Amino acid sequence: MATAFFVLLMPFLLVSASTHLQSTEVGFISTIISEKGLDFAKDILIEKAISSLTPLDLPQIEKTVKIPIIGKVYVSLSNITIYEIDVPSSYVKPGDTGITIVGSGATANLSMNWFYSYRAWHVTVSDKGHASVQVEGMEVGLTLGLENQLGTLKLSLMECDCQVKDIYITLNGGASWLYQGLADAFEGQIKSSVENAIIKKIKEGILKLDSLLKSLPQELPVNEIVALNVTFVNEPMFSNSSIGFEIDGLFTGADNAVSSGNYLMNSQHLASCEGPVKMLGISLDEAVFNSASNIYHNAQFMQWFVDKVPDQSLLNTASWKYIVPQLYQLYPNDDMNLNVSLSSPPVIKISPDNIDSTICSDMIINVLDDKEIVPVACISLVITASGSVDISGNNLVGSVELVDFTMSLKWSKVGDFHMNLIQSAMRTFLKTVFLPYANLHLRRGFPLPIIRGFTLQNADIFCASSQILVCSDVVFGNSNEPRLLPYDPIHSLLGFDV
Ligand SMILES: *[C@@H]1O[C@H](CO)[C@@H](O)[C@H](O)[C@H]1NC(C)=O
Ligand SMILES: *[C@@H]1O[C@H](CO)[C@@H](O)[C@H](O)[C@H]1NC(C)=O
Ligand SMILES: *[C@@H]1O[C@H](CO)[C@@H](O)[C@H](O)[C@H]1NC(C)=O
Ligand SMILES: *[C@@H]1O[C@H](CO)[C@@H](O)[C@H](O)[C@H]1NC(C)=O
Ligand SMILES: *[C@@H]1O[C@H](CO)[C@@H](O)[C@H](O)[C@H]1NC(C)=O
Repeated sequence: MATAFFVLLMPFLLVSASTHLQSTEVGFISTIISEKGLDFAKDILIEKAISSLTPLDLPQIEKTVKIPIIGKVYVSLSNITIYEIDVPSSYVKPGDTGITIVGSGATANLSMNWFYSYRAWHVTVSDKGHASVQVEGMEVGLTLGLENQLGTLKLSLMECDCQVKDIYITLNGGASWLYQGLADAFEGQIKSSVENAIIKKIKEGILKLDSLLKSLPQELPVNEIVALNVTFVNEPMFSNSSIGFEIDGLFTGADNAVSSGNYLMNSQHLASCEGPVKMLGISLDEAVFNSASNIYHNAQFMQWFVDKVPDQSLLNTASWKYIVPQLYQLYPNDDMNLNVSLSSPPVIKISPDNIDSTICSDMIINVLDDKEIVPVACISLVITASGSVDISGNNLVGSVELVDFTMSLKWSKVGDFHMNLIQSAMRTFLKTVFLPYANLHLRRGFPLPIIRGFTLQNADIFCASSQILVCSDVVFGNSNEPRLLPYDPIHSLLGFDV
């Protein structure tokens, strides 16, 4: 049987932002699964359920029946197996307390062995053979409860029912009276045996799905520096056509040694997906990005040593002979390198038409004098960059472009710099070295918390006030277990992308 009966219901295992006032905790990432998404999840659920239900062995049935003329006959039905189930129509409906899924007009095909024996004139007469049974007009309905239990989702089966309307038995061989005998005496029992078996399987399946949900991590490792806190906060929100979930959504230090700090929810109103209906909408508050920025900065990962640039001659004092004469006089023809560090975590601001960030950094200029590294000056830079985001696989990726920058000399051991003379060299450096370096990391992005096996498709991204909204469909690959994306060493990087 498939390891995961019902693999899924919450394909995207996330959370909706609550616009509700009663919410006490703050979820910085929220997800709403639309009617289309619920339908998609329901179809997968039913497909998985069917494949785990078949073949299904039912208990043997036996009894002694009275057949006209012949008298008492012992009949047993054994090796009863449901080998095919078809659910032609189904729907899912979120309600106030849970989610109802109904499959109707379902059919099932069974095979079985029959055996009978009776005594006539002191002789035992017996026979055996096969029969096939068609079950039609089966209705299966279940209501699932979903609640937040200490940060994980608890799934419970609140109601479950299965009703078989008609069965048709086809005998291979056997005496002509047998058909009527079976139909009269066994129809009810076969029906209830099918009903009970299916209900029992659904109960088992829901328990399994619940334990899968419970086993989902509350923290999603991203790399060796940060992890995303995917703890569920608040209760799932049910509307008449969607389910919403909220997760904490802030980045934390991978080793919990670095705190991400305290954040307030910036987005006051939850933006919703407009345009063509997508399966899910994920909204990420500005704080999500700023928490990553903080962790990387606090973990001292926003430092960077530069000893190679496209125009390598710039990293030799000879190039600066006329611009910073003292530098050349003190260290003639020495190589130089740069030690760039961000003096504070970049602050990311999201507005409907722009994502921008202010990056404050210090650039220490070192000279290599007889293999000794000598810091000679420090330039403070305030860089304004504008960003854009995109989806790559299940990752939210980004890139930044230079808007403007200002600089000042923080300290110098080689006299004053003519800042206006190094302006254009600095601009070139920022454009050809600094931002490409940042973009290399930003391009890897960070994984949106989506259950393994599901991949975003046709994602649209919108910026709203203080939030980014991803509206997307998903496709389901061949995966037995829903798991959050695992730690991927390739994604480890330095930089505030995660
Ligand atoms: C039980 O049924 C299956 C098919 O449903 C068949 O392959 C198997 O041989 C049967 N076993 C016996 C003992 O008849
Ligand atoms: C299963 O039963 C349906 C009718 O209920 C029939 O149309 C279908 O052919 C059967 N499938 C198999 C594989 O016997
Ligand atoms: C869902 O509820 C809204 C109001 O909350 C209502 O306008 C809409 O018609 C309802 N949709 C369905 C399918 O019941
Ligand atoms: C993750 O989020 C939950 C809910 O907001 C919070 O209680 C928990 O302390 C957070 N975990 C870490 C490691 O910050
Ligand atoms: C870079 O500068 C920082 C101080 O801003 C210092 O702590 C660090 O050691 C320097 N790194 C190198 C490689 O010089």
